[in-house]
Amino acid sequence: MSHASPLRLGVLGSGKGSNFCAIADAIAAGGVNAEVALVLSDVESAGILGHAATRGIPARYIEPGKFRTKLDEAAEVAFVKALQEARVDLIVLAGFMRILKGEFLRAFEGRVINIHPSLLPSFPGLEAWKQALDYGVKVTGCTVHYVDQGIDTGAIIGQRTVPVLDTDTAASLHERIQGAERQLYPAVVAAIARGEIHTRGRQTRGFVSPGV
Ligand code: GRF
Repeated sequence: MSHASPLRLGVLGSGKGSNFCAIADAIAAGGVNAEVALVLSDVESAGILGHAATRGIPARYIEPGKFRTKLDEAAEVAFVKALQEARVDLIVLAGFMRILKGEFLRAFEGRVINIHPSLLPSFPGLEAWKQALDYGVKVTGCTVHYVDQGIDTGAIIGQRTVPVLDTDTAASLHERIQGAERQLYPAVVAAIARGEIHTRGRQTRGFVSPGV
């Protein structure tokens, strides 16, 4: 993807929206040739919707349906329709707590990215910072990757490391990882917007990390 005009982003989140804010702030500061066309959430009270509204960015809650960990069929259709109508080029998952499946991924093939709070492939799944602490690793971090049919298994675009300190609690480690995420995610989106990321199978090329 190489874009002279700003890359149109659709951001999906279920939580407080700190990654969304980091990306929106980087765009506003002129560091990313993109615009957030739409923010969607499956949680009506999610902080991300409030942050979008404050910034004047279109944002909507869409009812996720009867399942706990995925969208039901009607919800999936509604998410895809809203994103297509907003003419988004790239879907940015920023703390979206539901697994996206076949129809959604087919609609936006190769155009969905996610951020995960560990150095994948270590510690996929929930509370990755706690998994890292419990395992006893000395270095962890965060990963931005393309989304495929698996859980946290898609091709890796960029990573940033975070040391695990002897004094760390799950909360302190999580906070430092989130600090690293707020640097990594805008940098990856900027690189995609510049058309610098090239993917062949699992291999991606072109991302220069803003410090590892
Ligand atoms: C981030 O820590 C990210 O790694 C995970 O969900 C969290 C979202 O936080 N996927 P926020 O809503 O961006 O603050």
